[in-house]
Amino acid sequence: MTISLSLMVVVRSCFRELDWLERKENLLSMGAVGTGKTHMATALGVEACRRGKAVQFYRASDLVSVLQEKFAAGTLSRFREKLKKTDLLILDEVGYVPFSQTGSELLFNVIADCYEQQSVIVTSNLEFGQWTSVFGDTKLTSALVDRLVHHAHILSFTGESFRFKQAMDRIPV
Ligand SMILES: Nc1ncnc2c1ncn2[C@@H]1O[C@H](COP(=O)(O)OP(=O)(O)OP(=O)(O)O)[C@@H](O)[C@H]1O
Ligand SMILES: [Mg+2]
Repeated sequence: MTISLSLMVVVRSCFRELDWLERKENLLSMGAVGTGKTHMATALGVEACRRGKAVQFYRASDLVSVLQEKFAAGTLSRFREKLKKTDLLILDEVGYVPFSQTGSELLFNVIADCYEQQSVIVTSNLEFGQWTSVFGDTKLTSALVDRLVHHAHILSFTGESFRFKQAMDRIPV
């Protein structure tokens, strides 16, 4: 199993300098299941921590649940202030679980808070054109994507699933 040369070059440069983080740019990792998006996001998060950056990692659906809980408890503002103190917010697995209208709006506000203030890494199995199926509202989805892509590096993960490949390799011939 290999990753494409162009992706490897971009990923290596993202690790070496972390200058995208200093510039508050985003990394948007798109691709099919099992192609290494979470693996790379985790590694970049660890590297950013190692260099003294504040990082928070959430599966997107988990963050939405937390936001809804904080909203219901009246502590959402405090939680958003805490999120604003991070240098890098990692949102993993946007695309597998659709959000309720309230959930989408709450997540939109977090992304809007990050815009030009903090870096965001998003991993998704869906192309942007399909994000309405996750966020529901077309206008909200385009405003959200617009903010994410404005200062972003888009990493395209291709090939077959590492999981599938590893499972196949275990089958005796
Ligand atoms: N470059 C790599 N070399 C070897 N193994 C890898 C590599 N990248 C990822 N893996 C392994 O492949 C498996 C799948 O990777 P990962 O979970 O990052 O995929 P994903 O793209 O996030 O998938 P999904 O869309 O299902 O969340 C994991 O066990 C991971 O450790
Ligand atoms: Mg993943």
